[in-house]
Amino acid sequence: MIEHASIYAQRRARVASQLGHGGLAIIPTAPERQRNRDSDFLYRHDSYFYYLTGFTEPNATLVITAEGEATLFCQPKDMEREIWDGIRLGPDAAPAFLGVNKAFSSADLAAQMPKLLENRSTVWYPFATHTGLEGRVDGWLQSVRARVRFGALCPDLQRDLCSVLDEMRLVKDAHEQGIMRRASQISAHAHVRAMQRSAAMLRAGQDVREYHLDAELLHEFRQHGSQYPAYGSIVAAGANACVLHYRADAGPIRDGELVLIDAGCELDGYASDITRTFPANGRFTGPQRALYDLVLASQDEAVAATKAGARFVEPHEATVAVLAQGLLDLGLLDKSKVGSAQDVIANRSYFPFYMHRTGHWLGMDVHDCGSYVEPSQVGQVSERKDPLSGETIKDRPSRILQPGMVLTIEPGLYVRPAEGVPEQFWNIGIRIEDDAIVTETGCELITRGVPVKADEIEALMKG
Ligand code: GLY
Ligand code: MN
Ligand code: MN
Repeated sequence: MIEHASIYAQRRARVASQLGHGGLAIIPTAPERQRNRDSDFLYRHDSYFYYLTGFTEPNATLVITAEGEATLFCQPKDMEREIWDGIRLGPDAAPAFLGVNKAFSSADLAAQMPKLLENRSTVWYPFATHTGLEGRVDGWLQSVRARVRFGALCPDLQRDLCSVLDEMRLVKDAHEQGIMRRASQISAHAHVRAMQRSAAMLRAGQDVREYHLDAELLHEFRQHGSQYPAYGSIVAAGANACVLHYRADAGPIRDGELVLIDAGCELDGYASDITRTFPANGRFTGPQRALYDLVLASQDEAVAATKAGARFVEPHEATVAVLAQGLLDLGLLDKSKVGSAQDVIANRSYFPFYMHRTGHWLGMDVHDCGSYVEPSQVGQVSERKDPLSGETIKDRPSRILQPGMVLTIEPGLYVRPAEGVPEQFWNIGIRIEDDAIVTETGCELITRGVPVKADEIEALMKG
């Protein structure tokens, strides 16, 4: 039997209990995707499907009824295909191995789904996540409708299963937290390795490139059993750090410049997401250090604001308050033009230097699912400004943090050359990102296996 089968069974039971009388849920896994001609992208299962099955084969669909019956459609045994692509579980072995009640070949999906849907009241599936699923559901419902003259009942309601699954996934159970701690630890060590390689290569007078550090990250991820990076690693030297979605490329890593690495591994279906910014040669210059310490101070405040009962926006607000004052103090913003720190915040004058949010949910997906609005308070009178768009949001208060939610805390500053900005700060991009599990009293930072204080980074990069 699959490890932790009971955890997946309990999750399926929780879904079943929310489908309502006569409900049925359909959850397909992800399709295989072609990269070019005969090569596919490395396969990655669908997160919702995996959350409910722990099963990683492609071409599979899970069906859950309100009565708690789970049916799996999976790839049939096929000697020839298994010689080429690997062993398949197959429908005969699936019930005992995965703990589902029944299993069929995925080739039988079209024939079986109308039977499963007949006499059901509501069909649930994740909306707008699987290309073509709506059309397939339509086709199955047409088949049911063709039988109404024979007394069949056809579901008359379709509902979005994301609303159920997103809320469940938002709060991580102990099993999930354990995996996320391990993923974070691997990623943290990968960052340490990359920092040390950068300084060592520069000391040896070698031509250091962004891909050298990317290779260190990958090595450490795979060495410890991570299946793949959780997202495209960013290794950005010098001015490249000011490009938020820069990808590890071939840029030269020069003595005297900073390197920003945003990278995390995926382990057993769960992402980690760490950013560190460090001097390529292991020693910060004065202006680099001034900006670095400011970003770190803003992160400290954000961490302090991350606790059960606080709202999701509070760490961001704490960050912005520190950055606004710091930008004035360091002369990146001119008091005589922009006014006080409060004015800087109100008018969003910090925006050219800090244009992203301070965090996001983290889980199976690096930008994980889950509403950023508090569901229990939708419609209650409130008003706030979205920190990024500046739009007024009425009656949708920010999410209240609960123990077990996991989020990133990732303030940054990005200084492009511009008139009025002291030249010593030009082309410096800094982000510091850690992953936090919300607890009753605060949060647990699970990514501190890589140091974050400037002195500690310098110490570990020494020869
Ligand atoms: N690595 C993606 C992010 O930090 O959101
Ligand atoms: Mn992030
Ligand atoms: Mn990141």
